[in-house]
Amino acid sequence: MQTMSTFLRTTCLLLLVASSWGRVPPHDQVARVARFIAHRCDWTSMATISSHKPVVGQPFSNVFSVSDGPRGSSSGVPYMYLTRMEISVQDLEVNPQASLSMSLAQTGYCRQQGFDPQSPLCAHIILSGSVLEVNGTEADFAKKSLFSRHPEMMDWPSDHNWFFAKFNITQVWVLDYFGGVKTVSPDEYFQASPNGKHN
Ligand SMILES: *[C@@H]1O[C@H](CO)[C@@H](O)[C@H](O)[C@H]1NC(C)=O
Ligand SMILES: *[C@@H]1O[C@H](CO)[C@@H](O)[C@H](O)[C@H]1NC(C)=O
Repeated sequence: MQTMSTFLRTTCLLLLVASSWGRVPPHDQVARVARFIAHRCDWTSMATISSHKPVVGQPFSNVFSVSDGPRGSSSGVPYMYLTRMEISVQDLEVNPQASLSMSLAQTGYCRQQGFDPQSPLCAHIILSGSVLEVNGTEADFAKKSLFSRHPEMMDWPSDHNWFFAKFNITQVWVLDYFGGVKTVSPDEYFQASPNGKHN
């Protein structure tokens, strides 16, 4: 009896943990894995080409809050809330090209599975492209996406002239299994379902 209830408790806990993370799509469905990661991650590291001494022209990586849509409404487009007072945003004004990196190590999944962050089994993506300001209805969606997942943004100092931006993806790189990096075109990426189940 004791053993049975312990077993049930453990099973329930595991199910709870699994459902809170969602199910990672199969590793050979690379575009879906990429969409899954982009939706799960609340932040990204963004590398720009520095415009600041003494590292002008060198890569410069920095952390940014990101959202591709309110939870459960993934668009695949990483949106950001930026100010021109910020050092990396100043780089983007000189050269808007950048690269984002996001990993399931950020969600607790890899630790739970016992995957080192550098292991390809700890699925991660690298996005190439550029950062563009968005306006109008797209800015409305960016605001909803970001503020629902980062509520303190609503209170960030208004004199910093925050604006909404998107990462315009030109290439997706996926590490989700052994055998080297796989690439996904923007079209394949945006057509893929971000969920662990079919559409
Ligand atoms: C958005 O609006 C700003 C200010 O009106 C303008 O400078 C910028 O070019 C616009 N961006 C786009 C992508 O339309
Ligand atoms: C945005 O990305 C698309 C590819 O998805 C590319 O064709 C286009 O040139 C990019 N736009 C800018 C302004 O970088």
